[in-house]
Amino acid sequence: MNLFKTLAAVFAGISLLASCSDSKPSPEAASDNTQAVINNIMTRTSVRQFTSQTIGKDTLETIVKAGMAAPTAVNAQPWAFIVVTEREMLDSIANVHPWSNLKTAAAAIVVCGDMEKKLEGMAGDYWIQDCSAASENILLAAHAYGLGAVWCGVYPNPEILPGVKRVLGIPSTITPLSVITLGHPAQSSEPKDKWKPENVHYQRW
Ligand SMILES: Cc1cc2nc3c(=O)[nH]c(=O)nc-3n(C[C@H](O)[C@H](O)[C@H](O)COP(=O)(O)O)c2cc1C
Repeated sequence: MNLFKTLAAVFAGISLLASCSDSKPSPEAASDNTQAVINNIMTRTSVRQFTSQTIGKDTLETIVKAGMAAPTAVNAQPWAFIVVTEREMLDSIANVHPWSNLKTAAAAIVVCGDMEKKLEGMAGDYWIQDCSAASENILLAAHAYGLGAVWCGVYPNPEILPGVKRVLGIPSTITPLSVITLGHPAQSSEPKDKWKPENVHYQRW
């Protein structure tokens, strides 16, 4: 009986190990999850017209979390995010950013660089790439939720930047890089095909 139990335990252990190694895909195996992630990237497109439906607080928080998961130079995370859902504030931003598409939007996430957290010296401007990476993550997370979104540039446009800072009460050490306009899409939009093999070089130019 003991021998039977021991053999059963050994067999169960081997099965467990086998199932663990089975569940670990090889680096290039396209699992359903891989396909879903790639599909989310390839089907994202800018959406500028929205229905009147609102976006849940939890959904918005997860989208901001996705923004904050972006890579930053030396992991400085030199950013701050302003989540705007009040109609009056959205309209105020629209008044100072004519291309913000906020008139029908349910929300905006303003991605800002924090000049007090940026790196010293020449690396200081990396805050722009850092906040750009966060902006793209936000677009992709919104798209994954079936929401529409569009990146509306703020920095370094001198005709837009001061107005956006003023209406949002942004302190002098904070610079808004983008307004990400969000809402439920009013219609479906086709992603643009941007694949141009001639823009890719292998091994060297
Ligand atoms: C830095 C930057 C600034 C942008 N500013 C605006 C803007 O002010 N208003 C707007 O409607 N779209 C803006 N866009 C969105 C682009 O127009 C859009 O991404 C581009 O046309 C490609 O289309 P797609 O997003 O559907 O792939 C901006 C995008 C980037 C990256």
